[in-house]
Amino acid sequence: MRPLLARFLKKHGWMYLPGFVFLLLNARIMNLAPRALGDAFGMLEAGCTREEILRQALWIVCIALMVFITFFAFRMFIIMNARRMEVFFREELFRKLQFLPQSYFAKQRSGEMMAYAVNDVNAARQVFGPALAMGARDIISGAIAIWAMAHECSPGMTALALLPLPFALGAIILLGNQVYKRSKLSQDLFQKLSGYVNESIMGMRVLKSFAREEARQERYGVLSGEMRDANVRLNDVSALLGSVSVLAFGLSYAFALILGGRRVLRGEMDLGTLVAFLGYLLVVQQPVTVAGRIMNMVQRGLASYRRLQSVDREASLPEFDRTSRGKPVGRSLEAKHLHYTYPGADKPALRDVSFCLKEGQTLGITGGTGSGKSTLAALLLKLWTPERGTIFVGGEDVCDIPAFDLREGFGYVPQDGFLFSASIRENILFYTPDKTEEDLLQAAEDACIRKEIREFPQGFDTQVGERGTHLSGGQKQRIALARALVRDAPILVLDDTLSAVDHITEQAITRTLRTRLRGKTVVLISQRLSALREADRILFLEEGRVTEEGTHEELMARKGLYYEAWLFQAREAEGRS
Ligand SMILES: Nc1ncnc2c1ncn2[C@@H]1O[C@H](COP(=O)(O)OP(=O)(O)OP(=O)(O)O)[C@@H](O)[C@H]1O
Ligand SMILES: [Mg+2]
Repeated sequence: MRPLLARFLKKHGWMYLPGFVFLLLNARIMNLAPRALGDAFGMLEAGCTREEILRQALWIVCIALMVFITFFAFRMFIIMNARRMEVFFREELFRKLQFLPQSYFAKQRSGEMMAYAVNDVNAARQVFGPALAMGARDIISGAIAIWAMAHECSPGMTALALLPLPFALGAIILLGNQVYKRSKLSQDLFQKLSGYVNESIMGMRVLKSFAREEARQERYGVLSGEMRDANVRLNDVSALLGSVSVLAFGLSYAFALILGGRRVLRGEMDLGTLVAFLGYLLVVQQPVTVAGRIMNMVQRGLASYRRLQSVDREASLPEFDRTSRGKPVGRSLEAKHLHYTYPGADKPALRDVSFCLKEGQTLGITGGTGSGKSTLAALLLKLWTPERGTIFVGGEDVCDIPAFDLREGFGYVPQDGFLFSASIRENILFYTPDKTEEDLLQAAEDACIRKEIREFPQGFDTQVGERGTHLSGGQKQRIALARALVRDAPILVLDDTLSAVDHITEQAITRTLRTRLRGKTVVLISQRLSALREADRILFLEEGRVTEEGTHEELMARKGLYYEAWLFQAREAEGRS
């Protein structure tokens, strides 16, 4: 695919054209002012009428007006287009993120992705907006001014007057680099500091319960001290950067005055020309003064653009997986000698797992933490890509089923049961806005959460705060369960969905699920064996391998690990009741 910028330019690039026309006009018209001022002095020196001077003043006002109009126009076109670019980049990026495979998100921190979406897009916009507009205008108008100085006065005097500039420019670029580095450091520290505050607020409960407030405060003091030092150092170079051009142009004006003044006194040059010369110098000063800032913007913006481009180049999910072939998937599930190693991991998460589940049957999966249960569930939905010939849904290799269709066939409750910042109603109907109120209530009922939601002051319209903070862990799990139930998909995968609810609620849910899910194929993952008791087949996983399997009765008869775990859990449950 073409680079982001090329795609944008193809679509909206023409908008820059009128911008550049106005920009050129602006640069040219700006240079009329010094000449007009010089002419006025020339006229005064030669002795002119009041009307003539008034006319000249009016001309100067006209020039100012034209500068104003063209300035407004070129900025509007170029900066407006850069805003359009910002939106374009942001949308492309978001679209990209939606179609990236799960493996991409596993290697990227979400904070960094936020930075892509916000800071990088913004920095890139600044390059193709303000930096481009102001930089190009200043350079062009400066060049025109230098040309006019050499042409209207003398090349020699121009060269001498501009002598300090290369040094100033060099110093400004060097200092600009320093400012860039130091402001980056200050920004990084700011991010660290705000991350620290954010985490402290999020983790306030843990902090309080461990009585760590004092230590946390101390560390905060250290961080904020570092930030102060970094800002002081930044200020030092910024101040220096601002004064370099003042100093250099002080020298330039002095040279111009000495050389030009001598010529005027000798009668080799008229006063008007000297005034115009000084006016042109003012036009040249502008680009030199902002050179450091514009260079920073460009440096930062290009780095950001490269980062955006690297996300844009990541391989998306193949088109095949994104489009429906219009045929629903079957209901049976089968795994044949399934091995799976996560990308970049050194040991496999699943080894030689095989099972066969007929339509309408229930598969229970249990095993210690980290034994591969969630991995197996995610592979069934192709959230990670299994090897060809290892997983079959409805008798078809999942590699031959578009991910879109495959996932349509599944109701999946992931282990973390993520909820969006929206109302409970919106969360439950998230994928299925066409479902009715009845379906919603039924799903909530089946997930044993309806009564609790009813008791909330706003019922189903209760907003689930950022990350669902005012719900208990068990409530969140059951809402996530209701969200999967309301889909009414033929296959249901519940990944440790009831880990945070008490025994009695768990039993109640298991009971309702049994009726509600009759005829559906179910994969039930749980550490609590009582939830799996009725399953047609139970897999006991250990370090990615199926070490025991069978029905509850068969596994009990084996007197292996399942049996021991069952006895242990039964004793625990008794102890509690
Ligand atoms: N994205 C990932 N990248 C690399 N390794 C992973 C990834 N996710 C899980 N693993 C590893 O794969 C193994 C199996 O993890 P999995 O999440 O399937 O375990 P689990 O049985 O669901 O555990 P739990 O009961 O704690 O939920 C673990 O060793 C884990 O560290
Ligand atoms: Mg898990």
